[in-house]
Amino acid sequence: MAILVTGGAGYIGSHTCVELLDAGYEVVVLDNLSNSSKVSLERVKALTGKEVTFYEGDILDRTILNEIFEKETIESCIHFAGLKAVGESVAKPWEYYENNIAGTLTLVDVMRQNNCKNIIFSSSATVYGDPAQIPITEECPKGQCTNPYGWTKSMLEQILMDIQKADEEWNVILLRYFNPIGAHKSGTMGENPNGIPNNLMPYITQVAVGKLAELGVFGDDYDTPDGTGVRDYIHVVDLAKGHVKALKKIEQKAGLCVYNLGTGHGYSVLDIVKNFEEANDIKIPYTIKPRRPGDIATCYCDPSKAKRELGWEAEFGIKEMCADSWRWQKNNPNGYES
Ligand code: NAD
Ligand code: UFG
Repeated sequence: MAILVTGGAGYIGSHTCVELLDAGYEVVVLDNLSNSSKVSLERVKALTGKEVTFYEGDILDRTILNEIFEKETIESCIHFAGLKAVGESVAKPWEYYENNIAGTLTLVDVMRQNNCKNIIFSSSATVYGDPAQIPITEECPKGQCTNPYGWTKSMLEQILMDIQKADEEWNVILLRYFNPIGAHKSGTMGENPNGIPNNLMPYITQVAVGKLAELGVFGDDYDTPDGTGVRDYIHVVDLAKGHVKALKKIEQKAGLCVYNLGTGHGYSVLDIVKNFEEANDIKIPYTIKPRRPGDIATCYCDPSKAKRELGWEAEFGIKEMCADSWRWQKNNPNGYES
């Protein structure tokens, strides 16, 4: 029996492949490499000593999905595949709805035709919009998303919930990730963004490595302790381990479950700069810029439900996240391109 990992060559997917293989699972990856490199899977093999079965293809393509279900014995699917750039989604909404929503509908249809009704879905804290309460629990109502990317996550959560409600053979686990950063301790795997990074940590590491001149801090007049945005940063390896715990839950017939995956601690942009500088002994020059449209002041979670029900909690702290992000960037200044 194997686990189908869509988007398994990507940042969170590749780290999850390592944890799955280490936990003894067989892994089949489907990825169209639109935002990743096959080299990440070679690194997975080097770290684990185990092979991933790789299919290069699209979740929108029924032919390849059928081929996978014919050739492999798939027990469950961890569904990472999706486009995720917030700004790009505003410029290309159709592409985001097509890829993320039509792609997931196609995947789920082929799954049910093959009587595979176990799915773990990569959702996001973005579904809470401007959260009604801090820290955010899973009971907190979903909010208004500020971009098409966020709406794809919110809509897909609803779609998967409705499918599970109509057919209780389905086990659906929605994992709402907070802000994944960090990289594998080995320094051989990490985040590999195309072009100029949108997210804070890859921007900082590219300043540190000399590719970018300085960090722009988007706003210092929020209602937060130092005026800059506060987020719940979580080490990608902790996040990956959360998926192994979610699989164990699926094996016990989960029905429908929703979990926040975060640390429960909020750090501001300037906290991250300071921690990065201290962890790595590198200065990060920055200037204060206007607020970025769509950003909220504060977002961190209450992760106690995942601890209670999955036996999962984050182990790594902010210093390790900063040190591991830097080790990856320093060893691989051009990501997976040699
Ligand atoms: P990523 O871009 O590194 O990984 C996504 C992978 O999916 C890539 O390898 C890409 O090539 C692949 N892909 C995209 N569309 C595909 C398609 N149609 N068919 C096959 N493969 C396809 O992103 P990530 O950071 O690893 O994120 C993984 C998932 O987690 C995504 O669904 C993302 O929206 C979600 N998520 C990420 C974050 C974050 O901050 N990184 C936060 C919350 C949720
Ligand atoms: N920031 C800067 N400068 C930068 C980049 C970011 O000051 O160059 C600030 C932002 O304003 C924000 C914080 O750093 O206050 C974090 O920003 P990110 O872009 O790293 O992360 P977001 O919280 O905006 O969003 C991320 C993902 C979303 C996901 C969300 C919750 O991009 O897709 O986390 O999981 F939904």
